[in-house]
Amino acid sequence: MTNWTAIAISSSNIAFIKYWGNRDSQLRIPANGSISMNLDGLTTRTRVSFDPTLSNDRLTLNEQAVSGLPLQRVSVLLERLRAMANIKLFADVQSDNNFPAGVGIASSASAFAALSLAAAAAAGLDLSEKDLSRLGRTGSGSACRSIPGGFVEWQAGQSDNDSYAYSIAPPDYWDLVDCIAIVSENQKSIGSYKGNDLADTSPLQTARVADAPRRLDICRQAILTRDFSTLAEITELDCHLMHAVMMTSAPRLFYWQPTTLDVIHTVIGLRKGGFPVCYTIDAGPNVHCLTPAHSAEKLGTHLLQIQGVTRVLNAHPGGPARLES
Ligand code: DP6
Repeated sequence: MTNWTAIAISSSNIAFIKYWGNRDSQLRIPANGSISMNLDGLTTRTRVSFDPTLSNDRLTLNEQAVSGLPLQRVSVLLERLRAMANIKLFADVQSDNNFPAGVGIASSASAFAALSLAAAAAAGLDLSEKDLSRLGRTGSGSACRSIPGGFVEWQAGQSDNDSYAYSIAPPDYWDLVDCIAIVSENQKSIGSYKGNDLADTSPLQTARVADAPRRLDICRQAILTRDFSTLAEITELDCHLMHAVMMTSAPRLFYWQPTTLDVIHTVIGLRKGGFPVCYTIDAGPNVHCLTPAHSAEKLGTHLLQIQGVTRVLNAHPGGPARLES
C-alpha cells in the first residue's frame, strides 16, 4: 500500500567525461558515455504527493510556483511513471535545492534524480537502481548519474533499456574535492537542455564522440587506481573537446568569461608547480577545480585571490539518491 507521498534527496554531480549531444533527444539516449562524481552536500530535496483532487501536475521550485518548460519536463517524467504504476493521479511536486540559488550550478541532475526516486516511492513502485537511473535520464540526461553513489559511469547504450548509470567506485574510495570557483551568478542564455540538441551542428562533434571510448577507459582506470595526474589530463582534454563543440555549434555557445580563463591559468600554473589540481567546466562560466582533500583548503585560498571569483563551494564525493524516512 502507498499513502501517495514520498520525499527523496539526491546530490548533484560533476562529469569528468562529459555528456554532450543525444542519439535520441526525446529519450535522452546520449551520443557518448560519461563518468562523473556525485557532489556531497549539494543536494535537491523533493516531495511528491499524488493527489486525487488535482486536475494537473503542480511544481514548486525553491518555494516559487513554476509553470512552462520546467513543469512540462516534470510532467513528461511523471507520465512515464504513471504508465509504469498504472495510475492516473496527478502530483504535487515540491523541490528545494540546498545550494545557493542562481550560482550557476546545474540543478537538473539532482532535481530529476530526486523526482524519480520520490515519485516511484509515492506511487508504490520499488524500482531497481537501474530502472530509477533510466527514469531519471528521461528528465535530464545527467540525472541518471545522480541515482547511484560515488564515482559513476553512464553507459550510453542504444535504447531506453540499456542506457543507464552505475557506480564504479563508492564515495569513500577516493577523497577528491570539487572546489567550485563561482565566477558569475547570472542565468545562462542557452542552458544544457537546449544546448545538447545543438551538438550535432558542430563539425567537431563526430570526432569528439568517436574518441569517447578511449577517454572513458583512461578516466575509469585513473579513478580505479587513484591516479590523479592521469585523471587531470583526461578531464581537462574532455572539457576542452566539449567546449570546442559548443563554441563551433550553430548558434555558437560560448560560456566562458574572462575570469573563467584566469582560473584556468591559475590551475595550470599550480599544477606545473607540483600542486595536484585540474579543472573542468560545464555549460556555464564557473570552474570546477578537482584536488585531493588534503589540498582543498590551500586551493580555496588560491582561488579566492583571483579577482572575479566571488566564492568557492567545496564538495566531497556524494552518496546515492535516498528516501527520507
Ligand atoms: C555540460 O543533463 O543538463 O553538464 O539532458 O538536456 O537535461 P539535459 O542535459 P544535462 O546536460 C549536462 C551537460 C553537462 C555535461 C555533463 O554533466 O555530462
